[in-house]
Amino acid sequence: MNSSGDTFNYEVDATHKLHSGLFHPVLRAWQTRCTKPCKENLIYPIFVTDSENQVEEIGSLPGQKRYSVDRLVESLKPLIDKGLKSVILFGVINTLPKNDDASNADSPQNPVVRAIPLLRKEFPHLLICCDVCLCAYTSHGHCGIFTTDPSSEETFIDNQLSIQRLSQVALKYAQSGVHVLAPSDMMDGRVGAIKSILSKHNLSSRVSVMAYSAKFASSFYGPFRDAAKSAPSFGDRSTYQLPCTSSGLPLRALQRDVNEGADIIMIKPGMPYLDVIRSARDRFPDYPISVYQVSGEYAMIMHAANAGTFDLIKAVFESLYSFHRAGADVIITYFAPFLLDKL
Ligand code: PBG
Ligand code: ZN
Repeated sequence: MNSSGDTFNYEVDATHKLHSGLFHPVLRAWQTRCTKPCKENLIYPIFVTDSENQVEEIGSLPGQKRYSVDRLVESLKPLIDKGLKSVILFGVINTLPKNDDASNADSPQNPVVRAIPLLRKEFPHLLICCDVCLCAYTSHGHCGIFTTDPSSEETFIDNQLSIQRLSQVALKYAQSGVHVLAPSDMMDGRVGAIKSILSKHNLSSRVSVMAYSAKFASSFYGPFRDAAKSAPSFGDRSTYQLPCTSSGLPLRALQRDVNEGADIIMIKPGMPYLDVIRSARDRFPDYPISVYQVSGEYAMIMHAANAGTFDLIKAVFESLYSFHRAGADVIITYFAPFLLDKL
């Protein structure tokens, strides 16, 4: 309310909101075009569980682990001392119940909700991102909410219900102190829904959205689904993730998220889609572009190196250079700890 008693509610256009892309030093670094691997532009994916006092090996991802919230700080400390600037958190449920509306995605017991304030306090300079999705918390393992059509009795993912639920979850992570929300569900309108709920809670200029935009239905997510216990119990994700054969959809998906107000756009996976990174760079020269070098890419390189096929360091750097050459600025990679020693 102002002095004359009117409510002031001027709403800025989605694509005209800039503060969300520059309120943090690491976000500002991402606004500079990045042409070679560097510490500022790496994001390390972290799996956080609802267990207690546990660090679990992940069979599908050699060298990667799941951490209970109480073991997170001690595990991250050495990496932050080596110059790690950013992490992306994934919640994994070992004991909490999963259900149709993913109620534990944003409950007080959710490992990401618990980890964010802890990391904010212990590592005040760290840029904290978190994945926003429902698949790790739904009983069926899909990324959205299902409805049954009463007339045909057909069951389908209800886009409207899904983006409503996703925006509630995103708000909870934002209120817990996350810097960057990264919706990976691929529903239509979720970026706009998240931006709008942030705005209603006056969080627009303090929370960024990095949209998984050109996200393909890929074989390369296999090891992740094992790590996050998020594999669908029936069907696949081909009705919401992009066909690997499509050529127009990736750019339309990127445009969709840009129009809805995304601050950073992502292409995922990386190496099989370098052409998409290049088209995105040409089409969106004004946006930071991130690429996710996904679990299957990591596993493939690790297994090949372990089998003596090639030298690990050289192969990892070659993969990173290919991302930067194609036009990516920010790289999400499980190799981050290893790279901190080499950069
Ligand atoms: C959740 C999500 C997935 C990944 C990131 N967020 C899996 C999926 O969509 O099935 C994949 C990451 C990786 O493979 O490393 N929606
Ligand atoms: Zn998902």
